[in-house]
Amino acid sequence: MMKKRNVKQSFPSSDSSGVQRTARVQKKKEGAPSRRWLKRGLLALFVIFILVPVSLKTLPELMQHFVYKHRLRVPFFVDLSQPAEFSLNHTINMYLTSEEGISLGVWHTVPESRWEEAQGKDLAWYQNTLGDGSPVFIYLHGNTGTRAATHRVGVAKVLSALGYHVLVPDYRGFGDSTGEPTEAGLTTDALYMYNWVKARSGKSLVVIWGHSLGTGVATNTAVQLIEQDTFFDGVILEGAFNSARQKIPVNPFIWFYWRLPGLEYFFPEPWANNKVVFPTEENLKKMKSKILFLHSEDDHLVPIHVLQEMYEVAVRAQDAERVKLVTFEASLGYLHNGLYRDARLPDIIKKFVRSL
Ligand SMILES: *[C@@H]1O[C@H](CO)[C@@H](O)[C@H](O)[C@H]1NC(C)=O
Repeated sequence: MMKKRNVKQSFPSSDSSGVQRTARVQKKKEGAPSRRWLKRGLLALFVIFILVPVSLKTLPELMQHFVYKHRLRVPFFVDLSQPAEFSLNHTINMYLTSEEGISLGVWHTVPESRWEEAQGKDLAWYQNTLGDGSPVFIYLHGNTGTRAATHRVGVAKVLSALGYHVLVPDYRGFGDSTGEPTEAGLTTDALYMYNWVKARSGKSLVVIWGHSLGTGVATNTAVQLIEQDTFFDGVILEGAFNSARQKIPVNPFIWFYWRLPGLEYFFPEPWANNKVVFPTEENLKKMKSKILFLHSEDDHLVPIHVLQEMYEVAVRAQDAERVKLVTFEASLGYLHNGLYRDARLPDIIKKFVRSL
């Protein structure tokens, strides 16, 4: 999900803008500009409240876009096959086939202590390192954009510095991966990643880190694994949402419409209609992995109380020893994506991994 910054600061404060205000008042008297603005305003209202909702109702593919926003390849103009240029220099790019016809672009970053050794190494070398005994993280990112997004690279840096491997796939339809995103498809991709890692990581710990939409994918995958009698060694859920309680939660665009009266008519059951369910709360009741929730108190997409309720569900299903919650004060301004910047994060993660 994209970060929305508070734009208030960009307006001049009332003290400093006395001159500007006078200028504006004069313009208003002339009449024409204000009528022009009225027209623009009405047009904007038409687009926002009529055109877009009606389009969403009539074109289901559009809804797919609004849920996943996978076509927004942010950051733009980036060559995903050259990770060292904007990520860590001990990272390799590869493509894995999660099912017939679906190729996933994936970055593998080795522990930072091996960065020198990693220079110029090929895929075979990188795959071999997965068996070196260091914990392996699979990072399942949120909607919008690719594995090159700043906050995703930020998490990989933290984990690599702690001495862990990090694998960051772009799900089908995202980045340079092929296919179209669906809930089942994303879960298949994550399950494939896990099995691929397990086949190479020996006895090392394998931990899943889901962010935002990725928390839904992570818990779906965990439940599928339980059906095969296995589970992740640990699960970190950052900015987890609850589709059962938050009617239309996962993206800022739809968030905008959330409180609009009559909304149900246009978005009757957006999740069910597009087979997007992400039943995280139900999944938590079944999960057997140790879980660490990370959440910012100022998360504008998933209010902290929604997360606290989910934490309670997870604790009831397991116990307070196996399910932890760490929150970050609103004053830090991390919102939905930014907690990778927190100076305490490395210690929090290290402690969790040691407990596994
Ligand atoms: C490569 O990355 C390591 C660890 O992040 C850093 O210390 C080093 O300076 C980098 N080397 C080059 C040549 O960029």
